[in-house]
Amino acid sequence: MAGNWKMYKTAPETSAFFEKFIPLVSSADHCDIVICPPFVNLCTAVQAVSGSRIEIGGQNLFWAKEGAYTGEVSGPMLAAIGCKWVIIGHSERRQYFGETDETVLKRTQAALEAGLNPIVCVGEKLEEREGGRTEAVLSEQFAGGIAGLTPGQFAKIVIAYEPVWAIGTGKTATPQIAADAHRVIREQVRAKFGGDAASQVRILYGGSVKPENIKGLMAESEIDGVLVGGASLEAASFASIVNCQ
Ligand code: 13P
Repeated sequence: MAGNWKMYKTAPETSAFFEKFIPLVSSADHCDIVICPPFVNLCTAVQAVSGSRIEIGGQNLFWAKEGAYTGEVSGPMLAAIGCKWVIIGHSERRQYFGETDETVLKRTQAALEAGLNPIVCVGEKLEEREGGRTEAVLSEQFAGGIAGLTPGQFAKIVIAYEPVWAIGTGKTATPQIAADAHRVIREQVRAKFGGDAASQVRILYGGSVKPENIKGLMAESEIDGVLVGGASLEAASFASIVNCQ
């Protein structure tokens, strides 16, 4: 169960969140719990969760280890401050910051090299779904961004299916729509990496996940977890998502 805070919360707001959130999820040992704050608050978050089961991730990374890349942050830097995870290829990165399937692959390889667990995002836009291109888009994103990993690398990633039309819009994909897309992705995995990889890979759903719809989504065996934006910003709402079993 992962929270993507996007560009929300200052350091004091980060501390205040964890003070409330940690006790609320103290008995949740059925899942991994990950929060991805903005870069500047990662240290605060890592310190706040120490001694708990909650892990912290970045929202992006650059593929070089270090160098003259003004404004960028590398995998080894994230790992050195105690991050365990990193989101890669979020649709907002694709839409506003020129992320492509090719750069998704480079970032994923860099994350793995730094010992981070990548959460690699894929998902179709509204016009692609309406044009009947969902499967084709997911296949293209898989082929360009994920299929270039070795089987050993692939075993360490988590995939997040985030239909762009459901992000921040209040329009959740129905559990059925999400499960169908997950099946398409799992079939890509099976074809490239084999049956064991397909059954073992965790595929998260993301897009307007809320305490009110989490039960229906998690009832689908295809859905292994969720990547939550807006509803992860409030301790009680993200805790009720995490605690749903
Ligand atoms: P919302 O949950 O706000 O729709 O955002 C989803 C998302 O983009 C998570 O990465």
